Amino acid sequence: MKKDDIKIEHLVPTFKDARRRTRGDVDNINFELDPKYLNLGIGKKYLIQTYGCQANEADSEVMAGILEKIGFEKTDSPETSDLIILNTCAIRENAENRIWGEIGRLSHYQKTNPDLIIGLAGCMPQEPGVVERILKKQHAVGLVFGTHNIHLLPEYIYDAYLSKERVIQVYSKEGEIIENLPKIRNHKFKAWVNIMYGCDEFCTYCIVPYTRGKERSRLPEDIIDEVKKLVSEGYQEVTLLGQNVNAYGKDFIDLEYTLGDLLFDLDKTGIPRIRFTTSHPRDLDLKTILAMKELKSVMPHLHLPVQSGSNEILRRMNRKYTKEVYMEKVNLLKEHVKGISITTDIIVGFPNETTEDFNQTLDLVKEANFEGAYTFIYSKRKGTPAATFPDDVSDEVKKERLLKLNEFINAGFKKGNERFLNEVLDVLVDGPSERDEEVLAGYTPHNKLINFKGPKSLIGQIVKVKVTKALTWSLQGKLCQDER
Ligand code: 5AD
Ligand code: SF4
Repeated sequence: MKKDDIKIEHLVPTFKDARRRTRGDVDNINFELDPKYLNLGIGKKYLIQTYGCQANEADSEVMAGILEKIGFEKTDSPETSDLIILNTCAIRENAENRIWGEIGRLSHYQKTNPDLIIGLAGCMPQEPGVVERILKKQHAVGLVFGTHNIHLLPEYIYDAYLSKERVIQVYSKEGEIIENLPKIRNHKFKAWVNIMYGCDEFCTYCIVPYTRGKERSRLPEDIIDEVKKLVSEGYQEVTLLGQNVNAYGKDFIDLEYTLGDLLFDLDKTGIPRIRFTTSHPRDLDLKTILAMKELKSVMPHLHLPVQSGSNEILRRMNRKYTKEVYMEKVNLLKEHVKGISITTDIIVGFPNETTEDFNQTLDLVKEANFEGAYTFIYSKRKGTPAATFPDDVSDEVKKERLLKLNEFINAGFKKGNERFLNEVLDVLVDGPSERDEEVLAGYTPHNKLINFKGPKSLIGQIVKVKVTKALTWSLQGKLCQDER
C-alpha cells in the first residue's frame, strides 16, 4: 500500500478541550450503513487484538460487527489478515509500550502482504502525542481512529482501500451515543451491555476522562430492549458496563432514573444473571444496594475500587470520599446483601505516598475483607494532574509495596474461596477448563471460578455444583447430578 498521507483529518485531541465539559444535550445517533460500503470487505479477512478493559472488549465486538456487515471474514492468524486492528489501552505506560512493540512485530507481515492494513484504535490514539508519533515514525500503521468514531469504520476502510491513503481520524470531543450498532459477541450466553460512556470523575491519575469523553447514559428503553433481545437469544448473563455505572442517569435532563431503577427494570426481562462494573464508591447509592438485596438476578458480587486506604492520598487522587465513607458503604453492602463478595482496585506508589499511607491501605484491605483485587503501581500519564505532583518514592519501594499488598490480597482471595467449602452453588458453565479439556469451568454467583467434571453439553447452562476444595484462585467441585 502506498502510504503518502494524502488524506489525513487530524483533530488533535487536547486535554484542555476535554476538561471544559458542558452539560449540554447528548446526541443520540442511529447507525445506518450506506449501501455503497456493503461489499467492501468481500474476500478479505480481519483480525482484532483487544487490550485493556471491558469497554474495549465491547468496542471490539462492535468493530467486528461492522466489519462483518461489510463482508469481512474473521481470522485468527496475522499471516492471512488483510486488516489488523489493535484496540488499545492507555491506562498505564506498560500497556502502551506493548502496543508499540506489537506494531513492529506485525509490520513484518506487510513484507509478504503489502496490502495489509494495520489499524490503531481505542484509547491510545486519543492521547496527545500518539498521532504525532504515528505520523512521524510508525509508517506501518495505515488507519487510526479513536473511541468516538468506531461507527465511521466503513468510511475509513473505504478510503484506506480504494484511494490507498493513510487514514487518521481522531476526535477530541464530549461524545455522542450511537445506537443500533452491529455486534459480533464473543460469547454465546454472557454479554457486555454498555449502559453509559465516558467519565466525569477526573481522578488525578487517570487518563480515561480524556480518552473516552464525558459521562453520557444510554436511554433505559434502549438498554432494556437490548437485554430483552439477549434473553430471547438464550443469554444467561449480562454485565452492564460504564466507567462509573453509579453515575448512570445523572445526565438525563428530564428523567429521574438511576442504576437502581435500571436494575429493577432489567430484572423483569427474565435475564438470569446481572452484573455491573465499574462502581465508584462515592456514587454507589441505597437503591442499587437494595436492588442487589432484593433481586435474585443481581449477583452478590461488587467490584468497588478503593485505590488507597489513606485519606491524604484519596484527597490528592480526587476520589471524593474518605476511607471512613468507603467503609460505611462496604458495611451497608454487607448488611443488606448477605454474603456479598467485594473486590477492588488499588494503586500503590502514588506520588509521595508515605509508609504510613501505605500501611493504612493494608489496614483497610484487612478491614474490608476484599476477596480479590487488581493492584497496580502508579503510572504517570502525561496531561493528567498527578503527572506534575512531586514524587520522592523510589521504584524499588513501589515494587516492594506491591508485593506486600499482593500477599494481603491473595490471603483474602483464599479466604473468600474457603467460605464456600461444602456448599452447593449455582454455576454458569463457561466451557472446558484451560488446563484440562475433560474438566468444565464456570462462575458462581459471587464470581468465583470453579472447576468440575461434567459433560460439555452443560456449557451455557446454570447447574448445581458442590464445592469440594478451595484453592487460592479457584474452587473445585462435583456436579450434583440429580439437582440439575
Ligand atoms: N496508574 C496506575 N493505575 C491506574 N489506574 C488508572 N489509572 C492508573 C494509573 N495512572 C487503575 C485504577 C483503576 C483501574 C482501572 O486502573 O486502579 O481503577
Ligand atoms: Fe478513571 Fe476515576 Fe473515571 Fe475510574 S472514576 S475511569 S479511575 S477517572
